[in-house]
Amino acid sequence: MPTKSPRQRLFFALWPNDELRDQLYGLGQRSLPGIGRLVKRENLHITLIFLGSVDNTLRACAERVAARVKIPPFKLELDKVGYWPRARVVWAGASREPAALLGLMRHLTTGLEGCGFQAEGRPYRAHVTLARKVARRIQPSSHSPIVWSTKDFHLVESCTYPQGVQYRVVASWPLRESSDGE
Ligand code: 2AM
Repeated sequence: MPTKSPRQRLFFALWPNDELRDQLYGLGQRSLPGIGRLVKRENLHITLIFLGSVDNTLRACAERVAARVKIPPFKLELDKVGYWPRARVVWAGASREPAALLGLMRHLTTGLEGCGFQAEGRPYRAHVTLARKVARRIQPSSHSPIVWSTKDFHLVESCTYPQGVQYRVVASWPLRESSDGE
């Protein structure tokens, strides 16, 4: 009987440094309207593309796509907090999404199509989920921006354990205008 190749639950993401993580966690604490569950400090991130359950072939193809990225580093200013009632999440987002972020998304989406992966059709809205299972609507608010200077992006594995979900960065790529020597 052919053996099934092992699968991993993977997504591309922007991963904050410790300082940014603290700022985002503090924003979550200030924004939570009582009922709800703050995302653990170590789990805060921005998803670029959620791949879902992935076999080795798709993972290898996705990594080749990521290695071809030639997008300069960019700054994302997270200046608003909102609530999505259907998902029941409180999130932090940006009023303006930099062209480089949209370029990165375009590169990954198009490249992944070449791997046979169809990204979801919804328009992309970069956000950090700050809290989940938030039963009460909060009013959208603006605040002084938390500036996320992005120099790289990552492939992350999501693992579910009895004590909750844990994320693990499995590969990383720099943002750069062009490869060395090109
Ligand atoms: P969210 O924070 O907006 O819920 C890992 O699960 C990450 O992938 C989460 O940040 C989650 O976004 C995102 N994601 C996007 N689509 C998903 C899906 N269909 N199932 C689970 N997570 C998804």
